[in-house]
Amino acid sequence: MTNPIVPVITLDGPTASGKGTVAHRIADHLGFHYLDSGALYRLTALSALRKGVALTDEHAIAKLAEYLPCRFAGGEIFLGQENVTDAIRAEAVGNTASKIATLPTVRQALYALQLGFRKAPGLVADGRDMGTVIFPHATLKVFLMASAEARAERRYKQLIEKGFAASMHDLFADLVERDARDANRAISPLKPADSAHILDTSHMSIDEAVAAVLGWYAEVKKAH
Ligand code: DC
Repeated sequence: MTNPIVPVITLDGPTASGKGTVAHRIADHLGFHYLDSGALYRLTALSALRKGVALTDEHAIAKLAEYLPCRFAGGEIFLGQENVTDAIRAEAVGNTASKIATLPTVRQALYALQLGFRKAPGLVADGRDMGTVIFPHATLKVFLMASAEARAERRYKQLIEKGFAASMHDLFADLVERDARDANRAISPLKPADSAHILDTSHMSIDEAVAAVLGWYAEVKKAH
C-alpha cells in the first residue's frame, strides 16, 4: 500500500507544454520524488519497437509494460542495463508511445508501477492522467497548457540542442495529431481534473510557471 498521507502534486498537460521541466524543478525545490509517467509509455514503446512487436498486439505490449525492466537513477533512465535517456525522446518513440497509450491493458499494466512512486516526503507526478486517474486525491492538481505553435517551437529547440534532426512543419503536424489522439481516446483521455489549476505557459518563462505552482502549493498547505 502506498501512504495516502504522502503529498502528491500532479502536473498534467499536452506534449511539450513544459510540464517535465516545471515538474523537475518543483520536485528539486521541495526535495520530492519525481514521476515522469510519459517515460513509462515511451519505454514500453521503445521496447515494442526494438522487439518488433506489432502495435496491434495489445496482449504482447501489455506484457512488455508489466515486466518493464526500467530504472530511474540521477535523472537518467535505463531499460535493462542500457541508458535510454535520449533514445526515448526520439519523435518516433513519442508517437508510438501515444499509440500504445490508447490500449487499456497497457495502462492497467503501468498503474501499480506509477502508484509505487508515492513515497515520503512527497511526489511530483507528470503526465496526462495523473490528477484524473492515477492520483485522484492529490494534494494539488495543475493542468499546464500552451499554444500548439509555442509547443512546436519548444520541441524544435529541444531536439536541435540534443543533436536530433528536426523539421518545424513536421513537428507541428505530429504535435496536433498526438494532442488529438491523447485527448480523444476512450480511456484516461488528456483533460484537466475538475479541481485542477489551469496554467497557460504560452507566454511564461519556466521560472514564472514554477513560481505559480509553488505559490498554489503553499496555499494548499496553509489551508490544511
Ligand atoms: O509526456 P510524454 O510526451 O513523454 O508522453 C508520451 C506519450 O505517452 C503521450 O503522447 C501519451 C502517453 N502518456 C499517457 O497516455 N499518459 C501519461 N500519464 C503519460 C503519457
